[in-house]
Amino acid sequence: MRIVLFGPPGAGKGTQSKLLRERYQATIIATGDMLREEVHQETPLGREVRRYMEQGMLVPDELVIGMVERRLRRLKNGRFVLDGFPRTVAQAEALGRLLARLHLPLQAVISLEVPAEEIIWRLSQRRICDACGETFHLTFRPPPEDGRCPVCGKGPIIQRPDDRPEAIARRLAVYEAQTEPVKAYYATNGLLHRVSGLGEVEEVHRRIVKLLEGRPALATM
Ligand code: AP5
Repeated sequence: MRIVLFGPPGAGKGTQSKLLRERYQATIIATGDMLREEVHQETPLGREVRRYMEQGMLVPDELVIGMVERRLRRLKNGRFVLDGFPRTVAQAEALGRLLARLHLPLQAVISLEVPAEEIIWRLSQRRICDACGETFHLTFRPPPEDGRCPVCGKGPIIQRPDDRPEAIARRLAVYEAQTEPVKAYYATNGLLHRVSGLGEVEEVHRRIVKLLEGRPALATM
């Protein structure tokens, strides 16, 4: 399995990636999580990207492409789910060149389709563990009242700085301007598949599985 899970902020890419990892033993390469970890560790890269992320802007292409390349080169079983990358046409082109060099051609781009009003609601409801990144939702998966993460035992449970209203608006505008064109790029080479991201998490997962298993080469390679 070598796929891109594509979609606007809050579409459910992270949530669905984890379910695909469990089902297909694929490695998740989530650029947002990787960048947040760099910020958390206060690495030179983290210090460089922090202001872009907090404001809901894209990190410069060359920094993200280099990070993804290093991760793909360490891949063990050749199975991956890319979450949050590529986000610009330049990133998509760089990914194509890199995967050709590694003899790991992309098999599908699954676009989770979710309207803006649902996205705004989901992101305003999201909370995460500051230590391990586990995701909560104030209504569907409320975080524990004592602030201790049930997954890593640490915490605290916080709101992402870019989940505040002004940053959400910026992220949606950036998505429209810079990321939406990536869909057209993949539509022209036949890799794009649109899946509704509305409904319960398990329901969305079943739609993705149905798509993948309707094309056995995707699920098993
Ligand atoms: P990143 O972390 O990738 O953020 P994003 O794409 O904006 O996506 P999110 O993590 O916000 O949402 P998601 O689609 O994963 O949804 P989730 O499953 O969490 O990137 C952050 C920043 O890093 C960027 O703004 C940029 O600065 C930088 N960056 C990252 N990659 C980059 C790149 N390639 N190039 C340049 N810069 C880059 O779900 C959201 C919420 O909804 C959760 O609360 C969840 O519980 C809930 N939910 C999920 N599914 C459902 C459902 N079916 N029904 C109801 N609620 C649901």
